[in-house]
Amino acid sequence: MRHLRVPSAETQHWLELCRTQNWLQKGAGVLSLEDGLKGIPLSETAPPESDKSWLGNTIILAAGITKGPEHWSEHLDQKLLQEIGEELPNSYEIQGDILIVKLEEQTREYGTAIAEAMLKQLPSIRLVCADNGVIGEFRVRDLEPLTSRNNDLSTITQIRENGVMISTDPAKVYFSARLSKEREDNLLVAQKLRKQLSRPLRICDPYAGVGPSLATLLREEGLVSECYAGDLNPDAFELLKGNIEHFISKSPTPPKQLKIKNIDARKWKDELDNEHKIDYLLVNLPHHSLEHLPKLLPLLSTDNSTVIRGWAIIDRDSLTLQEGNIASMIKLAGGNVESISCSEVKGFSSSKIFMRFESWQTFS
Ligand SMILES: C[S@@+](CC[C@H](N)C(=O)[O-])C[C@H]1O[C@@H](n2cnc3c(N)ncnc32)[C@H](O)[C@@H]1O
Repeated sequence: MRHLRVPSAETQHWLELCRTQNWLQKGAGVLSLEDGLKGIPLSETAPPESDKSWLGNTIILAAGITKGPEHWSEHLDQKLLQEIGEELPNSYEIQGDILIVKLEEQTREYGTAIAEAMLKQLPSIRLVCADNGVIGEFRVRDLEPLTSRNNDLSTITQIRENGVMISTDPAKVYFSARLSKEREDNLLVAQKLRKQLSRPLRICDPYAGVGPSLATLLREEGLVSECYAGDLNPDAFELLKGNIEHFISKSPTPPKQLKIKNIDARKWKDELDNEHKIDYLLVNLPHHSLEHLPKLLPLLSTDNSTVIRGWAIIDRDSLTLQEGNIASMIKLAGGNVESISCSEVKGFSSSKIFMRFESWQTFS
């Protein structure tokens, strides 16, 4: 590779000049030469040694130090990069082998070039999709496939979380990898309840999605005796069934009773013949959890302490009121609250937050 020999003190000047002229070889590093000189790696478009631009500095041939581009945008053509300017996407999300990126209106026309640059940089990615926002009753993302490594445009993918593979389809169902810490904590709380009850638990996850919470709970030896799970989104339900089968196949103690349904969460009460038998209930419909909660309370066991863990989007200012609010709902349903806590998990917007609530109670 050709290198321009320059005094060490002038390295920055020549790097800058070569970069602006598109004469710098991408992905190659500066060489340290004899006598304190440096070698600037030149691209094929850089002029020959006789060119006046070099001010008499010589060009040598030397094996280059090549390092791969550090950022996907380095695979974009300089001209394109300048046209995109400030609107270059600065973040993206990865689910399995799918990369999901939000593009500003002005950047959409460069979508395919951006996606191809991303594929070059990230070998584990198969498909790049533009995220055009949330749509429909089930708040799933409107994904537009931009480019694929092997012409496979399927949006079904596998995610590994806490050592378990979970199948999902980001174009049809909700899944948030960012909540995996919440799911780990679900397990800790379930273990505490099992210890207190001295027996495996009857659990219900009525807004299960593709089942990430169940992945953690069902794998734990002797934790779950009965499992009731569902989702109203038919696509989530289909994936949930397959995933639960897979989780159970890895469990040394599969639940004795298992029901998976494509129903509205508020119908579980009838589905379980009003038996009041659930020990551990997950309530994960953040935009409506608090509104649905009274309809779910009759699921809880009347024989022992029970636990609810739920997530809700609330007004930031109302956080301090939520413990009282949820406790009132439980009391109204005939419950006796043993402990309750509401805490912010993350911000949601300038005025709203994403809150977790956890309550322990008995019903008579
Ligand atoms: C926020 S997601 C949670 C999914 C899953 N628990 C997770 O952590 O990935 C809420 C789920 O509830 C489902 N859903 C929406 N309305 C529902 C309802 N009325 N009854 C049951 N499921 C519902 C949605 O399809 C979605 O999968």
